[in-house]
Amino acid sequence: YAAPVSVTIDTTRPGPVINKNVYGQFAEHLGTGIYEGMYVGPKSKIPNTRGWRNDVIGALKEMHVPLVRWPGGCFADEYHWRDGIGAREKRPVKVNTNWGGVEESNAVGTHEFFDLAEQLGADTYVNGNLGTGSAQEMSEWVEYMTSDSKSTLAELRRKNGRDKPFKVDFFAIGNEAWGCGGNMTPRYYTDLYKQTETFLRAPKHLRPQIIASGGNDYDTTWTDMISREAKKQTYGISFHYYTIPTGKWEVKGAATGFKEAEWFSTLSNTLKIDSMIKKNVEVLDRNDPEKKIGFLVDEWGTWYDVEKGTNAGFLYQQNTLRDAVVAALNFNIFHEHADRVRMTNIAQMVNVLQAMILTDKDKMLLTPTYHAYHMYVPFQDATSLPITLKDNPQYSYNGSSIPEISASAARAKDGKLYLALVNTNPNQEAEVAVDVPGVAIKSVKGRVLTAPALDTHNTFQAPDTIKPVPFSASAGADGKLTIKIPSKAVIVVAVE
Ligand code: AHR
Repeated sequence: YAAPVSVTIDTTRPGPVINKNVYGQFAEHLGTGIYEGMYVGPKSKIPNTRGWRNDVIGALKEMHVPLVRWPGGCFADEYHWRDGIGAREKRPVKVNTNWGGVEESNAVGTHEFFDLAEQLGADTYVNGNLGTGSAQEMSEWVEYMTSDSKSTLAELRRKNGRDKPFKVDFFAIGNEAWGCGGNMTPRYYTDLYKQTETFLRAPKHLRPQIIASGGNDYDTTWTDMISREAKKQTYGISFHYYTIPTGKWEVKGAATGFKEAEWFSTLSNTLKIDSMIKKNVEVLDRNDPEKKIGFLVDEWGTWYDVEKGTNAGFLYQQNTLRDAVVAALNFNIFHEHADRVRMTNIAQMVNVLQAMILTDKDKMLLTPTYHAYHMYVPFQDATSLPITLKDNPQYSYNGSSIPEISASAARAKDGKLYLALVNTNPNQEAEVAVDVPGVAIKSVKGRVLTAPALDTHNTFQAPDTIKPVPFSASAGADGKLTIKIPSKAVIVVAVE
């Protein structure tokens, strides 16, 4: 070994709470993300509850999904909510123009989405249609979902089987307004946003928090204009960043079978989100020093070339140890920005991009990313704690380098202190000396996730090839505690 990396956790200066919604999910009408992957309809042979697969919902509950964003994505800006209510057999069939040009049956609509969220016990994030919709259409959707009056729309909801209003926690006005949401300028969008927000009426206690569609990558112009001109109206500004191994959309890189060069470039590209968040937070700190507005990373994750033989519009990709490491690196970054990053939604929950679960007919498997989320559950609503790393070596590849160890600590709701560690180096295990000043640490206990190959993954034939296993370490006679973290690994432990 080189000298151990020393990690010091300061329990005397608690930081902001890590909002549970930092662990939020995204479910778009895209490929088999909803249909097949989660919703099979009440008549399916696959065991289900009102159409939602019991196996998938059970696994997602186990993962404590705190929040789901729906129905898109790009899909949201062509979605008309009235197509998705009433008798299912009478709903119009549309074409999903964004994703594969397939038929959209509208079998999953507003009522089905809230049923999913209620089965999961998750908060809800509905994305409104600004692109091809209108202030009136969004205003009426919010009324339909939230009104407790006897208005015609509230009565229509009752006729469709729901007496009480739905709990809409968040409502976004448009998605990626700079691109698939209408190719708008920040000026044009901000005006439309404020106009629309004016008409989103709901009983005070049921009014959703409103989210503005912001920028992506290093662009801060959206954050700047929205936070200067629409502070009053806004809970948070959405932001998207995808991790692409090659950094190029045309040929992104494969999900499996890659070499160390793409392991390195993927991790290195994912870490860029830290400076993107910092740049945006600087703008927010200038325009919103009272920290009213959140910075919401409501789409992120790895985006690879699709699996051979699958519909290119379905964005179906395998998920390996590399994805779990990417997820954990992002979690540690989000924790550091917990005062502004109050929500994130990985893209996407099932069968799409960096998914938690993959399905094949009646089979399902949990991906390494699922396991990373599961390991980090104690960080939901935990209080972040300052953490310092000393003597952290660099993991170098071909003349470039990234820090070898990434770490994060928090005091969880159960009162325990949790530490998360990531070793980005695929060739070298590392020693981490843990110090909590004022506390005599006896042991650490939790789980480790690693695997022999860079691209180890689960398949339907071997669904448990990669999963976390118990991990523990004890303090030596000198009272010092050292964790040996394997190469390419994620560890989450309670420090006792
Ligand atoms: O997550 C897939 C797509 O990526 C979303 O629909 C869109 O918002 C983004 O470009």
